[in-house]
Amino acid sequence: MKYLTPGPVQLPPFVLEAMARQPPFHRSEAFRQLFKSVLDKLTKVYPTRAIIMPGTGTLAVDTMIYNYVDPGEKVLALVYGEFGKRAVESAKTRGAVVVEIERDIPPAPDEVDDMLRKDGEIKTVLLIHNETSTGIAYKDVKKLIDVVKSHGAQLLVDSVSGFPAEPLPPGVDVVATASHKAFLAPPGASLLFISSTPKTSAPVPPVMDLRKYIKTLEHLETPYTPPISVIFALDVSLNYIIEMAEQYVEMHRERVEYLYRHVKLQPIPPPQIRSSTVTAFICEKPREVIKRLKEVGYVIAGGMYKYRERSIRIGVMGDVTFDDLKRVSEVINDVVE
Ligand SMILES: Cc1ncc(COP(=O)(O)O)c(C=O)c1O
Repeated sequence: MKYLTPGPVQLPPFVLEAMARQPPFHRSEAFRQLFKSVLDKLTKVYPTRAIIMPGTGTLAVDTMIYNYVDPGEKVLALVYGEFGKRAVESAKTRGAVVVEIERDIPPAPDEVDDMLRKDGEIKTVLLIHNETSTGIAYKDVKKLIDVVKSHGAQLLVDSVSGFPAEPLPPGVDVVATASHKAFLAPPGASLLFISSTPKTSAPVPPVMDLRKYIKTLEHLETPYTPPISVIFALDVSLNYIIEMAEQYVEMHRERVEYLYRHVKLQPIPPPQIRSSTVTAFICEKPREVIKRLKEVGYVIAGGMYKYRERSIRIGVMGDVTFDDLKRVSEVINDVVE
């Protein structure tokens, strides 16, 4: 089976091989060397302090919210899919007062500027960078950073399925992501990029308490057992990502464009805001398409959000070739035509 899902993604053999070894004790020099190597590479990919925790994308998002939002604080959430709803749920669980703007297409930075001007109590904006449920990416993060900063607010970003294949400009206050999508490693590590120390004055559950992670980083350690096998994988996947530089983004864009050109179904995202990592199409026969693809060795994903029973999603991260994309397009077209 080959996985063209929105994650976990199809891993290249060199990543699988890097993991196949005994994890060292995490209070040893061998681990410290590995950990330093990966932290340095993460900081190359996004120029802030990187945190690695055992966990998933959801844990990264919850950790971001619990460390940077206080109960009772007002948060503006830009929601345009399922993962936006989940981020809202997390912020509400934290006790935040959430102003939720739910649209098919997220508001442009100018509109967010108006919203922040009208409500001076909002000091946090919560954004999904790459909305996996609809295949839409927020393309103008650079301008959004400027707008949010001009109001003395902070920008918290879920980029679990986007970065680093969907580019993110420097300057986001906190980015929450994970190992198993565009970072080209297996599930098991929550990744956070933080540009300031946690802001909250309220208690945070110990396993999510970033202050503990920052403190132990001084000795190149982690407060709890880290996902060591995943860190081995990240050590080599990050070499590949760093070597490819801008080509890494370009390669994903070309794959997405190929699918949007060849699959004869209506795309969910309009052209200017299409994600570079996940495609989404309206499809009246999603189960049949998924079944036929499985028969020829491909796994893709069904729909989510308001398109749950009437769409398909194809991920293009990981070890994917144009031959795969061609075959997948042909099979889909064969079923739907
Ligand atoms: C945008 C986004 N946020 C959060 C998550 C949750 O990640 P996980 O399933 O690893 O907890 C996902 C997973 O697909 C996602 O795509």
